[in-house]
Amino acid sequence: MTLAPARPAHLDSQLLALAVADTARAGSLTFLVGDEVLTYRASGDTVTEHQVPDGDTVVRLEPAAWHDLVAQLRTPINLLLGGVLDFERGGFDQLAAWDRVLRYLHAGFPPYSADRTDLRGRDVRATMTLADPDAELRAQLDTMGYLHVRDVFTAAEMAVANAAVDELAARATKGDDESWWVGTDEGDKLCRLVYSTLRSEALRRLEQDLRLARLGRLLDADAIVTPDRMEGSAVLIKVPGQTQGLSNIPWHQDCGMGGHAILCPAVSIGIQLTGSTAGSGNLLMVPGSHGQTLPYQWHSRSDVPVVEIDTAPGDVTVHVQDVMHASPKPTGAGGRRTMYVTFYPRTLTDHVGPGQAFNDLVRNRTAEVAGLA
Ligand SMILES: [Fe+2]
Repeated sequence: MTLAPARPAHLDSQLLALAVADTARAGSLTFLVGDEVLTYRASGDTVTEHQVPDGDTVVRLEPAAWHDLVAQLRTPINLLLGGVLDFERGGFDQLAAWDRVLRYLHAGFPPYSADRTDLRGRDVRATMTLADPDAELRAQLDTMGYLHVRDVFTAAEMAVANAAVDELAARATKGDDESWWVGTDEGDKLCRLVYSTLRSEALRRLEQDLRLARLGRLLDADAIVTPDRMEGSAVLIKVPGQTQGLSNIPWHQDCGMGGHAILCPAVSIGIQLTGSTAGSGNLLMVPGSHGQTLPYQWHSRSDVPVVEIDTAPGDVTVHVQDVMHASPKPTGAGGRRTMYVTFYPRTLTDHVGPGQAFNDLVRNRTAEVAGLA
């Protein structure tokens, strides 16, 4: 019996070759799962599977963890932070370099390439308004994996929301499990309020606003908001300067901590309470990258288009959770505030209970996460 899951029915040899090209340098990879062995070897344009434990990297994990990896419930970083990977040879970097191949072979997620991404002649920087028809909003979101909608909320509405954030921020304390903090030269600073709408009626009204529901359900008419799980609706506050921890989120997909099979294709709406620029800390996107896998550490070595999204107060951004995106260090005074309201597949609540979130793996683990980065 082999551990290797069945390959995708419509495996494309060119796509496999694309994934293999940047994995080959990581050498071969062996999984030891219970008494079973599976070694992947990149060979030419393809990958072969063997039952000899001779990989350049050898990782041992329990059958349940292997199942979760193959089923796209847990990612390599999730398994690492969960303490369930035991490297007998090699290390995490080699496993992560293989992820692009594994995701294609295990689940059919194609490797991303800018050349193969069809943006249907659309403008990667297009902005829209609520006056645009649903079909047009949907086409932009579906093509790019994100959408920028201007003037959704008024200045007065944003003032009310900011006052509510001020109140929650004043009450937040490090370790309260309702907030995220980062270290700075001037001490710890608040960078995120989670489950915010459980503590603020004003923010709850914003979360339940029909304008958001329209945008959040462009791709899935049955999608739901979950104020009491998955960190509910969180408010991000960009802290300026050098920080230790997760205020500036490097390139990621929102299912990067795990849960792709449960969460995606969720859609997150960012209500821009302050607007955003590079100076205050804005959002970066790789257009058309949703549902695909980029090479490990691609940003330091490949030619991938990146779009900056600058916004005004009252605008919203909408993104498919597995589009590749980042929230870099502010180049100026920081201070961007964005409230994220996420619309999940209705089945999410079958798998994630109240108070649970994949981010539980990193919340309150500032030092450990900074070490990884
Ligand atoms: Fe994100």
